[in-house]
Amino acid sequence: MIREVLTYPNPKLRTVSHDVAEFDENLHVLLDDMYETMINKNGVGLAAIQIGVALNILVINPVNEEGEQKKEDLLEVINPQIVESDGVIIFQEGCLSVPSVYEDVERFQKIKVKFFDRFGNEHVEIYEDFIAVALQHEIDHLRGHLFIEKLSYLKRKKFEKEWKKRAKEKT
Ligand code: CO
Repeated sequence: MIREVLTYPNPKLRTVSHDVAEFDENLHVLLDDMYETMINKNGVGLAAIQIGVALNILVINPVNEEGEQKKEDLLEVINPQIVESDGVIIFQEGCLSVPSVYEDVERFQKIKVKFFDRFGNEHVEIYEDFIAVALQHEIDHLRGHLFIEKLSYLKRKKFEKEWKKRAKEKT
C-alpha cells in the first residue's frame, strides 16, 4: 500500500525512532509499503518516520549503471548502527520529505554498518559512495534529522525563504 510521505516542517519528522523488536508479518508489510511508496514517489531511499512510523527501518534502492532501479538491488536495513566511518565525500542530496530541493552535503565516503534484515539476521557490511551517503541520510532521519540541517547558514536561510514562498503559493 502506498502511504503518505510527511514533508518538512512536519514536527513528526523530528521524532527519534526506536529499534524494531519483532521481525514478524507486520514488519514485512511495513517494509513492502515503504518500498511501494518510495518507488511511487520516484525516490531512492525512505525512512519509516517519513511515513509516520517511528521505527529504525530504512530502505534504499539505487539506480544501476544502465539507469534502472531494480528490486534485486533493494537494501532493507533494520536497527542500523554505523560502527566505523572513513573519508569524505560531497554528494548532491534530495529527500522525499523536502521535495524539489537538491543540495551538496558532506558525508563519510565509507562506512561499516551493523544492521538486521527482515528476518532478524544480523549483517555487518562496508558501503562506499552512493550507498554510504544514502545510508547516512536515512539514518539521520531515524535520529530526527533532515539533510537541510547540514547546509551552511546562508544556504539554509535561502532555503527557508524559498520554502515559505512556495508554501504560500500552494495555498
Ligand atoms: Co530523506
